[in-house]
Amino acid sequence: MKDLLLKNGTLLTPKGKRLADLLVREGKIVEMGEGLSEEGVEIVDCEGKFVLPGVIDVHVHLREPGGEAKEDFLSGTAAALAGGVTYVLDMPNNSPATISRELLKEKRELVTSKAKVDFDLYMGAAINEDGSTNVDEFLESDAIAYKIYVGSSTGNLLVSKKEALEEIFAKVAEAGKLICVHAEDEVMIQQNMKLFEGQDDPMIHGKIRSEEVAYQSTKMVLHLARKYETRVNICHLSTKRELDEFAAFKSEKITCEVAPHHLFLTELELERQGNFAKMNPPLRREKDCKALMEGIKNGLINMVATDHAPHLTSEKEQPYRAAPSGVPGLETSLPLMLNAVNNGQLTLEDVVRVMCAEPAQIFDLIGKGRLEVGADADLVIVDMDLEKTVENGGPGAEFTKCKWSPFAGQKLKGWPIKTMINGDFA
Ligand code: DOR
Ligand code: ZN
Ligand code: ZN
Repeated sequence: MKDLLLKNGTLLTPKGKRLADLLVREGKIVEMGEGLSEEGVEIVDCEGKFVLPGVIDVHVHLREPGGEAKEDFLSGTAAALAGGVTYVLDMPNNSPATISRELLKEKRELVTSKAKVDFDLYMGAAINEDGSTNVDEFLESDAIAYKIYVGSSTGNLLVSKKEALEEIFAKVAEAGKLICVHAEDEVMIQQNMKLFEGQDDPMIHGKIRSEEVAYQSTKMVLHLARKYETRVNICHLSTKRELDEFAAFKSEKITCEVAPHHLFLTELELERQGNFAKMNPPLRREKDCKALMEGIKNGLINMVATDHAPHLTSEKEQPYRAAPSGVPGLETSLPLMLNAVNNGQLTLEDVVRVMCAEPAQIFDLIGKGRLEVGADADLVIVDMDLEKTVENGGPGAEFTKCKWSPFAGQKLKGWPIKTMINGDFA
């Protein structure tokens, strides 16, 4: 492995921005300072560029095993690299779903040699044949966290009964492990589906999976987390109402993440893009986007994670009910956030907090998420002046197998140009 010296970049360190050089040796950051010089190292000119810690995306669906036509670990992690993402946490709604240590081991064996970035795997919560949950299986596993679908989404994972959830939250709290929740109220979803029976227009998606559906479920989960003092992360929080509720519960143990599509797109996209803008939870209104953006600026929201969930164009072109939910995001999340910095909506420090530092802290990823001496050399060089338009099959949707993006047509300013993982430019 060659040692590298990054010259004259603006480094985003935990102590703030700093125009300096950065020396990488054997995969680690060994020195940061002005005017560094070193024999026999490869020089990387970073003049005029910014150097950020590699992005950690704590919520992706890379579809292996079972959905390899949509994505696999090779294509999904290539998409990650292109997006400046150096670490992904992969969800368990595979086929078969990752609900036991055996299946987790098989999945790890299947994907490890294909992964171009660092990764960890979730285990999914499930109900056993005898009615008990698989929580003990999780507690004995090396899964990064336990994913609970309190409301149904893509795949067949679902644990919505209060008694089962009470047992899970208590046991996981005892073990000090982390639960991540997809919070939508299953009973309300089913009721609303009946209400709209016979209709097949994508615009009903936000009515079936309404603000109320998300709010009631998130509230229930927050109360359980507080009751049992469980470490809980609310996935893809999408509404102002949920955020206001979350604010009253936020603690070291109770955290949340938001997805770029909920920050930068509104429900109007369902009219424009049809099922290509269909995901769970659905796109919301302008006021919700604004509240989420404000939540990042004021420090309330812990993380931005993509919920990268590719589906094939042919699947999305089906009628509303048959079309699966989910959108890709790995290649556009950092550019969207950098573009928001260029627009004056956010600072680079905000971006590093929600995409690098807090994800590493919440998921205990040692040596990750911070540019500091001793840390792993996972970093991304970004050009804040580079402008590109997101294009299906092109920038922003080039490496994902699905080859489309809900952001196609958007011109973004600020793109990653080189991504380093453990000291190697991949
Ligand atoms: O839109 C979604 N797609 N939401 C989820 O919860 C799952 C995901 C997927 O796996 O397709
Ligand atoms: Zn989800
Ligand atoms: Zn997801």
